[in-house]
Amino acid sequence: MTNQWPAWLPLRADLADQTPYGAPQLDVPVRLNTNENPFGPSRALVKDLERALSEVGGHLNRYPDRDAIELRRALARYINQLSDTTFDERSVWAANGSNEVLQTIFLAFGGFGRSALGFEPSYSMHRNIARSTGTQWIAVERDSDYAIDRLKTAEVMSAHSPTLIFLTTPNNPTGTVTSLADIEHIAELCQKRNALLVVDEAYQEFSSELSAVTLIERYPNVLVSRTMSKAFAFAGTRLGYLVADPKVIEALQLVRLPYHLSTATQSLALVALSYSQELLGNVALLSKERERVMQQLEKLGVQALRSGANFFLFATATPGELWQKLLAEGVLIRDVGLPGALRVTIGTPEENDRFIAAMAKARGLI
Ligand SMILES: Cc1ncc(COP(=O)(O)O)c(C=O)c1O
Repeated sequence: MTNQWPAWLPLRADLADQTPYGAPQLDVPVRLNTNENPFGPSRALVKDLERALSEVGGHLNRYPDRDAIELRRALARYINQLSDTTFDERSVWAANGSNEVLQTIFLAFGGFGRSALGFEPSYSMHRNIARSTGTQWIAVERDSDYAIDRLKTAEVMSAHSPTLIFLTTPNNPTGTVTSLADIEHIAELCQKRNALLVVDEAYQEFSSELSAVTLIERYPNVLVSRTMSKAFAFAGTRLGYLVADPKVIEALQLVRLPYHLSTATQSLALVALSYSQELLGNVALLSKERERVMQQLEKLGVQALRSGANFFLFATATPGELWQKLLAEGVLIRDVGLPGALRVTIGTPEENDRFIAAMAKARGLI
């Protein structure tokens, strides 16, 4: 791989053998591979999005509100409604997807000479951004049931003194949920060591566990990353946000790019937030579908892992072959590289039925 780069290109040596992150974007009828929300916006929402765009269209010669105050206020209200908290815009920061949030955290608190710890398997962008920002990555293996081992965590933290600890819950790709008690335990360990605990809650709305935002008042070292990509079915707009102590948010401003969040993005996100009731209705439907699909697979003799997200892992002795077989039936799911397992995202009821039918057909491979 290394020699594919021309000699005149001064690419960093640690990047030369890397490949860009991303799942295959194949044009197939049923795409259940990237944990997207399958429901497009309702007609009423589309109309309001169009209206918002035409309102801002005449002002696009101007830079956006650099601090996105109105949007941050609306996001704080949304979180307060869900979690019974009292945040205002000083505790919220918005960016182009939660990936930008995560990268900005690394830029401010990671870097050369610092390390970050993550519980694996998990969302591989944590490790990737660590590398691209020169932060040493320390992986702690999850248990056989993908839970977090408190003792092991304390030992590794003592040995390496990481500045950042990344914890994804519900976890991607496993769907497993970490209890608030376990998160608080790690928050305490971090507090004693002046480390920051970043809880990646990209799929939080699909889970019934309390959000880690409820810990921030007592643990200002807890940062909670969220996104509108999943529950709000808004992946195409790119809107992620961080809920944290105002001092953390202030620190991030030292490294964020000016005017990074376009006027159009801010405006569209405000409209989507005003539809949160309707959109959370679809979240409930997807969570129900998740349980139905898991039951159907169990009837086929397939073991599925309990999940608090809009996807789940299931066991197969032949992940590569089964993935191909499903693709031949027009159903794209994700081989996340875990031995003996594949991940499927919950789609519309019709898409889920196609997946179940394809699985039944491939039974010989299960
Ligand atoms: C755990 C987790 N965090 C963050 C993201 C990034 O989401 P986005 O950048 O769309 O907000 C994803 C996307 O799949 C994810 O699975």
